[in-house]
Amino acid sequence: MSKISYRSLFDLTGQVAVVTGGAGILGQHFCAGLAESGAKVAVVDLQEAKAIELAKKIRDDYSNQAIGIGCDVSKSESVQAMVEQVISEFGEINILHNNAAGKSEDLNAFFASFEDYSLEQWRQIMSVNLDGMFLVAQAIGKQMVTQGKGGSIIQTASIYGVIAPDRRIYDGSFYLGRQIDSPAVYSASKSGVIGLTKYLAAYWADQKIRVNTLTPGGVESGQNSEFKQKYSARVPLARMAKPTEMVGALLYLASKASSYVTGQNIIVDGGLTTW
Ligand SMILES: NC(=O)c1ccc[n+]([C@@H]2O[C@H](COP(=O)([O-])OP(=O)(O)OC[C@H]3O[C@@H](n4cnc5c(N)ncnc54)[C@H](O)[C@@H]3O)[C@@H](O)[C@H]2O)c1
Repeated sequence: MSKISYRSLFDLTGQVAVVTGGAGILGQHFCAGLAESGAKVAVVDLQEAKAIELAKKIRDDYSNQAIGIGCDVSKSESVQAMVEQVISEFGEINILHNNAAGKSEDLNAFFASFEDYSLEQWRQIMSVNLDGMFLVAQAIGKQMVTQGKGGSIIQTASIYGVIAPDRRIYDGSFYLGRQIDSPAVYSASKSGVIGLTKYLAAYWADQKIRVNTLTPGGVESGQNSEFKQKYSARVPLARMAKPTEMVGALLYLASKASSYVTGQNIIVDGGLTTW
């Protein structure tokens, strides 16, 4: 048996990665993990200033090439301009982490009951969470096909695209100064992400472009203790996730370590969806 370096399968040196929603709570850890593994990283986010600031921090921390780009993934022209900027800076794209998801400015509309949910609000969230995934996967997948070297696409879904939120844990639970809830549009959009992944995995298999879903469970980010306790009671590992705990699965899916894995959904939820 010839000796191979299994550790080197995770090495991303020379690869170019695009992370949408890269300036967010999870996105910044995804960008840092890709950079530490050797990739050149394009931090793409609606919040341009935060994306540029994070790219600078990545250059400082990892001596790696990184750029921050302002982009609205729900707008075709904005996505095209982002892809052109990445290509002019780095020459090609090998890894796409389709990760952006939107919240509404109007939290009352975002968290409205299903019976009162407005079509306008539904469409606004879908335009980022699902249309945005479509637009970015289309633009970057096309680029990967043209390059002819394959690639890896990872799309972030959610446990609430796999199972329904358990409404019993929301009573007395607060986040960002208001009662916690999760609207139907979020579940529908995230289930859609899982379907899009499977479709594209089969569609681009002959191009050696692998497409997988990463599904995070609830991440601790300032929820009140009552929520944390009620949520944790439902999880076999008995706690919420830390943002850093999502990165290992991304690096596996982005790298050659997962070269025979496509169309799958890696669920990082402490076991919540097991029972
Ligand atoms: N944090 C959790 O508990 C959790 C759980 C399950 C799934 N997720 C998923 O993980 C991903 C990252 O979540 P997060 O917790 O980092 O959220 P976050 O809100 O901190 O980050 C999302 C990022 O997307 C950006 N964004 C929003 N609309 C955009 C648009 N139109 N174009 C470009 N960028 C846009 C935001 O500016 C933000 O930086 C999301 O897809 C989310 O649904 C998160």
